[in-house]
Amino acid sequence: MNVLVTGGAGFIGTHTCVELLKSNHSILIIDNFENSHPEAVKRVEAITGKKVNFRQGDVRDIAFIKKQITDFKCEAVMHFAGLKAVGESCQNPLKYYDYNVAGTLSLLQAMQSCNVKKLVFSSSATVYGAPKRLPIVEDTELHTTNPYGRSKLIVEDILRDLYTSDPSWHIAILRYFNPVGAHKSGLIGEDPIGIPNNLMPIVAQVASNRREKLSIWGNDYPTKDGTGIRDYIHIVDLAIGHLKALESLNVAQCNAYNLGTGNGYSVLEVIKMFEHVSNQKIEYEIASRRDGDVAECYADPLYAMQQLDWKAERGLREMCEDMWNWQIKNPTGY
Ligand code: NAD
Ligand code: UD1
Repeated sequence: MNVLVTGGAGFIGTHTCVELLKSNHSILIIDNFENSHPEAVKRVEAITGKKVNFRQGDVRDIAFIKKQITDFKCEAVMHFAGLKAVGESCQNPLKYYDYNVAGTLSLLQAMQSCNVKKLVFSSSATVYGAPKRLPIVEDTELHTTNPYGRSKLIVEDILRDLYTSDPSWHIAILRYFNPVGAHKSGLIGEDPIGIPNNLMPIVAQVASNRREKLSIWGNDYPTKDGTGIRDYIHIVDLAIGHLKALESLNVAQCNAYNLGTGNGYSVLEVIKMFEHVSNQKIEYEIASRRDGDVAECYADPLYAMQQLDWKAERGLREMCEDMWNWQIKNPTGY
């Protein structure tokens, strides 16, 4: 299939492009490099041995997107382009609604006018807010606590309204849990600009002495060791989930799927495993809880297993090993 990949130079996009190319799909990456690097596209080519079609541009530019869809004879879109930092979204909500909501609207308008109606959309487990029941199933009530989360939920609602108005759309909404790790080659991985917000990139930077220590945001949660529990998922498993979601779009639908493993690990368990695979001491301090954090969050992955024939295969050890391999091969990123 000819697949247009917005934000294809980013963390999840690059790994998904590798899987798409491995499965002989043809891809066109569109990225404005706001949070990525042209080198990432070259690395996708190096891993796959295939030339990658690429255009630098912005998803909010509807004329540009229409032209790319037409010229490329696009059949489906994977939409990764967007912003993802919760703290920044609280400081600059208009930017988040512009990129994540208005950007997606422009893309949908371009797709509609070109009669391309297959879409895989990057949502997030953040749409579940503080879940009342664990593991989290897809029909849990949706509730968000910050502008980033609301931008994802607004887009989900737009997609459901679109499908209700025109059931010939084929839409898969993927709610990611906590993507971590890197490609086995160590050529592509997460390259956060500035100080990372998420746990695993900070742990990797402390292990490699790029950062002095980690602050653990609270050890008084009602969990097995008092630290927060999350469902970490290997980025390659996540990428394969996208391929399966694309394959499922031979039938018209607008379905949301959890992409998680179903296993929760605490912050201390992640640190311990990372120390083990890297053979480095991870210095940490206990700090107060971070605003907006929940004690525990992990997926019920059953629906994705049944509908997409997909299951995460890689465990915490492999996530940490691959993250460490990427970190030591690329100590300052791309
Ligand atoms: P990323 O920042 O690495 O990738 C996003 C890419 O989109 C970047 O290459 C960036 O340059 C590009 N981009 C941003 N705005 C753009 C625009 N207006 N036009 C064109 N390109 C643009 O992030 P990621 O981790 O790969 O996340 C991909 C998607 O998944 C995002 O929508 C994010 O909100 C969502 N998501 C990520 C996580 C996570 O933990 N990484 C979790 C849940 C959901
Ligand atoms: C965060 C975002 C969420 C987003 C997700 C994936 C917040 C409140 N939530 O979720 O919206 O979808 O990233 O991008 O920002 N931790 C520390 N010290 C750190 C960093 C993290 O102790 O320096 C802890 C956290 O308290 C949490 C766990 O590690 O218990 C994982 O944190 P993180 O990687 O930021 O992911 P989420 O909290 O799930």
